[in-house]
Amino acid sequence: MSQEKKSAMNVEITCSPIHKVAASSLFLPVFEEEKSLNPHFSKLDKTCADVIARILETGENSGKFKEFSIVHLANHPISRIILVGAGKRKDFSLNKWRGILAKAARIARRAKSPDLAVPFGPFLPCNSQDAAQAAAEGIYLGLYRYEKFKNDKNGSENNLLKKIHLVVSEEKEMEAARKGWEKGKILAEAANFTRNLINEPPNIMIPAFFADQARAVAKLLNLEILVLEKDEIEKLEMGGLLSVGKGSSNPPRLVILKYQGNPKSKFTLGLVGKGITFDSGGISIKPSENMHTMTSDMSGAAACLGALKAAAELKIPLNILSVIPLAENLPDGKAYKPGDIVKMYSGKTVEIINTDAEGRMILGDALAYITKTLKVDAVVDLATLTGGVVVALGQTVSGVFSSSEPFFQMLMKSAEKSSEKFWPLPLFEEYGTQMKGTLADLKNSGGRYGSPCTAAAFLKEFVGETPWLHLDIAGTAYMESDKTAYQQNPYLPKNGATGIGVRTLVYLAEELSQNMSQLSSLKEVMVES
Ligand code: BES
Ligand code: MN
Ligand code: ZN
Repeated sequence: MSQEKKSAMNVEITCSPIHKVAASSLFLPVFEEEKSLNPHFSKLDKTCADVIARILETGENSGKFKEFSIVHLANHPISRIILVGAGKRKDFSLNKWRGILAKAARIARRAKSPDLAVPFGPFLPCNSQDAAQAAAEGIYLGLYRYEKFKNDKNGSENNLLKKIHLVVSEEKEMEAARKGWEKGKILAEAANFTRNLINEPPNIMIPAFFADQARAVAKLLNLEILVLEKDEIEKLEMGGLLSVGKGSSNPPRLVILKYQGNPKSKFTLGLVGKGITFDSGGISIKPSENMHTMTSDMSGAAACLGALKAAAELKIPLNILSVIPLAENLPDGKAYKPGDIVKMYSGKTVEIINTDAEGRMILGDALAYITKTLKVDAVVDLATLTGGVVVALGQTVSGVFSSSEPFFQMLMKSAEKSSEKFWPLPLFEEYGTQMKGTLADLKNSGGRYGSPCTAAAFLKEFVGETPWLHLDIAGTAYMESDKTAYQQNPYLPKNGATGIGVRTLVYLAEELSQNMSQLSSLKEVMVES
């Protein structure tokens, strides 16, 4: 893989009283409204002249979420204590824990600390396994930086935090902490892998480059892979994907990946991701302001690849088949035009109103291929599909459309675990009416009003009866100096790719693998079609 391998971080799990730990930095959570020191840390505090108790009593650190203090210790096995506010105990969540660990890890790195100790135990309102998993997620996600193209790498090559000590208070907790850490690490590293793909600039991240990354993942994890090039896509008559790719000298690709996590089972989950490696809008060109952020228009595709990677590493017992359409949307003498009529893979014809509504064109072909030809039992698509969903839900919540109530419920349960936020949007028949063509079966744009919903109604035309979820991640996949997402979730970057979708998809796969009995009920329809 072209991704740089950062010098690895080690984890050491120790069962020891906290005051006996030798680490250059120790992280301590501070809960709001708890002004006296938790007995768990009293012995430690005795070894450092009650300094922690004084900080709490005086309110120097009030425990407000993310508020931090750094205490330097002399003649002590611990060089510094990093206190981070965890908010009120009654409002504690694994997401907050994940967030303050991201914060602590970044503070430790900035302090050039080679290692960081993280305590677990009865002072926390959650078990050690969950705490260790969320800690790994927070630390790996929080330390992420994309600086491949910076000559000045901010010193991070030399001063990387190299070791995390997980300190548990009872021997029997060690195994739980190890398990949690391993899972969190796999999930966070998969999300970081997805972030790297998205952040890769569009002169490098072209369809063929993405396909190479998929090949590397497949090779590493023994997945089956097929990459279709333009002539093969032509043979399949995928008019949607071909039309969008026509304006670019970087031809489209179709990547098909298979992870056979449960060869005995007949059930296969389909994953489809929008892979527009750059969206200029095409002939219906976008305004130049912010056009550069359209390097992120393959976030859905990148999330599919990251999720597949994590699912395979975690050996989730579920078969997953992913179809990823890749193209670059550019204006050119050969580009597709408003007014064109395109015949899609399914045979349906589409009148092009706006070449900037390209995502649905490539997804329509991929969805028809995965549901009708490859015949998966349920399918999820992820796409940075519409500006309208950003207007409606903002940069912290993704839109979800579903044809199956039980499938939707499974997604919401999975999102609960990942702390990624999703909210349902409707698929009423009226939206479908808005997408009927004048000269062809369909048109590719229904105008500005209700655009996330009309786009979803367009996709629905290509999934048939297969239980389906459509996740519009246009607002959540990529940040441009966004403070709201970072402030509640400090493991997210202020700028660039978030890796949204990866962790939720893995939980969804886990959920499906554990609840085979629910699978038959997936076909219950949510909205009358
Ligand atoms: N990739 C964009 C959607 C997008 C917008 C993603 C902002 C991330 C941030 C998509 O291809 C697009 O251009 N959608 C148009 C559709 C319209 C022309 C019907 C939109 O939503 O404006
Ligand atoms: Mn577009
Ligand atoms: Zn797009």
